[in-house]
Amino acid sequence: MESFLIKGGVPLHGEVQISGSKNAALPIMAATLLTDEPCVIRGIPDLSDTRFMAEILKSLGAEVKFQNGTLTVRAKKIRGYADYELVRKMRGSICIAGPLLARLNKTRISLPGGCVIGARPINLHLKGFESLGAKIKIEGGYVEASAKKLSGSTMFLGGRAGSTVLGTANVMMAATLADGVTVIESAACEPEIVDLANFLIEMGANMSGAGSPTITISGVKKLHGAEHEVIPDRIEAATFAIAAAATNGEIEIKNCRADHLRAVLDKLIDAGVSIQPRNGNLTVRRGKNLKAVDVTTLPYSGFPTDVQAQMTALLALAPGISIVTERIFESRFMHVSELARLGADIEIEGPSAIVKGGRPLSGAPVMASDLRASAALVIAGLAAKGATQVNRIYHLDRGYEKMDLKLRKLGARIQRIEEK
Ligand code: EPZ
Repeated sequence: MESFLIKGGVPLHGEVQISGSKNAALPIMAATLLTDEPCVIRGIPDLSDTRFMAEILKSLGAEVKFQNGTLTVRAKKIRGYADYELVRKMRGSICIAGPLLARLNKTRISLPGGCVIGARPINLHLKGFESLGAKIKIEGGYVEASAKKLSGSTMFLGGRAGSTVLGTANVMMAATLADGVTVIESAACEPEIVDLANFLIEMGANMSGAGSPTITISGVKKLHGAEHEVIPDRIEAATFAIAAAATNGEIEIKNCRADHLRAVLDKLIDAGVSIQPRNGNLTVRRGKNLKAVDVTTLPYSGFPTDVQAQMTALLALAPGISIVTERIFESRFMHVSELARLGADIEIEGPSAIVKGGRPLSGAPVMASDLRASAALVIAGLAAKGATQVNRIYHLDRGYEKMDLKLRKLGARIQRIEEK
């Protein structure tokens, strides 16, 4: 297994180019199953998750070509079955269910199971499919959904933590080919949902309201092929902004949509970070000194849960007490015990992490546990004095394209090594 070996204490300087959004790319890749015509998607980040999704599309019978960030898919003849071996490796693959149900009126998919950050149920996805007239059967770890013909309906998709991103994506995609009108109340408002809606509209879908809590879809007979460029990855942009602040550097973030990051930029400014938007890029540097702030994760446009771990790492450096509250997932503090190995003073109290910040961090070997926790450990290692080895960085490779290369270009001393 591979690790990152980081020699910390170097302020980051220079420019970083943000890749396309993983969380926009995955549902858009699944949406290509909705038509038998060719689709071309550009700006797809080269990650293990996107390569895996391309494998899944191939396993379903689609012709797939994926190179230099451009994916060409033609789902001429496809089957509706995805087995456990495929789905268990990436929870996000559940978003093929909606397109398969819409295209074939039947699909059988392994239940995705949970992951380290939470149980990851799909009850809201299934509620949406049932509301469209599908029969749902769960047995042997598989979910089977079938319908003579999907028919539009009005549904409420809010759950234990508010809206569901992939649940909204799945139901939106299924509704594009249903008879009649579907109204999704308490829909997710994330920019990735808007990007998916834009692609579906380019395919000939008839919908409005994406980005708001109410999305209305009028089913059409057929969708045609389309071309699309994926939006920039707002979580990657936030991760690099936080790394610049943590190392007391100054970087320019290129290909970044500041309007997708309002909550993060607002919180960073409160924490003493200077952010200058300049013709589509962001210049980020630490101001005089970091300040303790409180953060609560919420559905969009609130502070994103996918930036919580990275922000916690930054606040470990900010003198004072910061309270970080995780409202989306039930156990997304796996990074805290590893940050403690670098000297961070953080206590977990229920859904909150109480961060007593300001002590300098010192390098140590740490273990990555999930995608964003790994990013937090890299950030802390970049800020810590001495050497930090972040092990099991396959977690990181799922969601960050060439992170070590991008960081080295910013002056970081980071090497990818074989874990001894
Ligand atoms: C998407 O996951 C993202 N993944 C996650 O990013 C992100 O953290 C999450 O949205 C929240 O923003 C992709 O887009 C591929 P949810 P998703 O359904 O859609 C509960 C990353 O690091 N819920 O919005 O699976 C659920 O338990 C990843 O890039 C139900 O109760 O998340 C959670 O508490 C991690 N029932 C909350 O809703 C359901 O049927 C939000 O989950 C579905 C979800």
